[in-house]
Amino acid sequence: MARVLVVGIATLDIINTVDDYPEEDAEVRASAQATRRGGNACNTAVVLQQLGHQCSWAGTLADDASSTIIRADLARYGVNMDAVQVITGGSSPTSYVTLNKQNGSRTIVHYRDLPEYSLTAFKQIDLTGFDWLHFEGRNVAQTRAMLDVARQRTPTIPHSVEIEKPREGIESLCDGAKLLLYSRSYVQSCHVTNSETSDPVTFLQAQQQIMPTTEHICSWAGQGAWGVDQQGKILHSPAQGLPCVVDTLGAGDTFNAAIIHAKLAGLPLADSLRDACQLAGQKCTQQGLRGIVQRQR
Ligand code: ADP
Ligand code: FRU
Repeated sequence: MARVLVVGIATLDIINTVDDYPEEDAEVRASAQATRRGGNACNTAVVLQQLGHQCSWAGTLADDASSTIIRADLARYGVNMDAVQVITGGSSPTSYVTLNKQNGSRTIVHYRDLPEYSLTAFKQIDLTGFDWLHFEGRNVAQTRAMLDVARQRTPTIPHSVEIEKPREGIESLCDGAKLLLYSRSYVQSCHVTNSETSDPVTFLQAQQQIMPTTEHICSWAGQGAWGVDQQGKILHSPAQGLPCVVDTLGAGDTFNAAIIHAKLAGLPLADSLRDACQLAGQKCTQQGLRGIVQRQR
């Protein structure tokens, strides 16, 4: 069991399942609706808890009804919330998700106006005693400052950063990380400005040249995931062949949790990719994240 600090957001996800993905301006009826707690960092924490670790979440919460649902869900999994910053009068970030029954695709419309987690709050966390720190790559300037604080205070604790969206200056979060987890959409956005990084292999090779002591991993939906080791060797794991993809919401967050779990266990990159694709595959066959590790066995 390791102690892991995750820094990032929590959301309320309102998930409408539709029989077919609608046309723009159409009016369709959902065949099911579910409301769940979401957010990349919190999803990753909940999966890590199920893998046997003790997670603490650092992020902001409003003081509205949605935040009660968010809190209750995290508490159910045993996620520690001592570092949470409550914003009085704020409203919880909400994602409106259209889940396509045909293929499990999730289309997300996200709305937030809640302030992001502050550097001041982060500085109050006692980082000693954690074995791993994981950051969502958002709120770039403040997150960079948090990474610098962590590096200064606890230089021996490894950290990972999720590089998911092409936000301005997000590359500045890469420096010093033990592990960088890239999304397909981020890699593809790099292609727009640099034609040499159009595919995961070329992208990872380029990143490894720039940051040779960091492990770089990129998940690629139904094609699995690629990684590059410190010798520059590219490894690939195919995605699980699944009879039915039910719900891909949070597949990447699950994948990231499984990779962190593998790193904590000291597994080689090939095994880490294989295990993460297996657990993320399990996620795609079920609604939500509950019981994901048990079901996989
Ligand atoms: P995100 O949820 O961040 O968009 P991805 O779509 O890259 O992340 O998915 C993360 C992982 O989930 C993939 O590497 C793969 O292992 C698994 N996965 C996603 N979609 C499928 C699918 N259709 N079939 C099997 N596995 C999948
Ligand atoms: C899934 C997810 C959802 C959330 C959205 C935030 O990866 O974390 O739970 O609504 O992404 O971007």
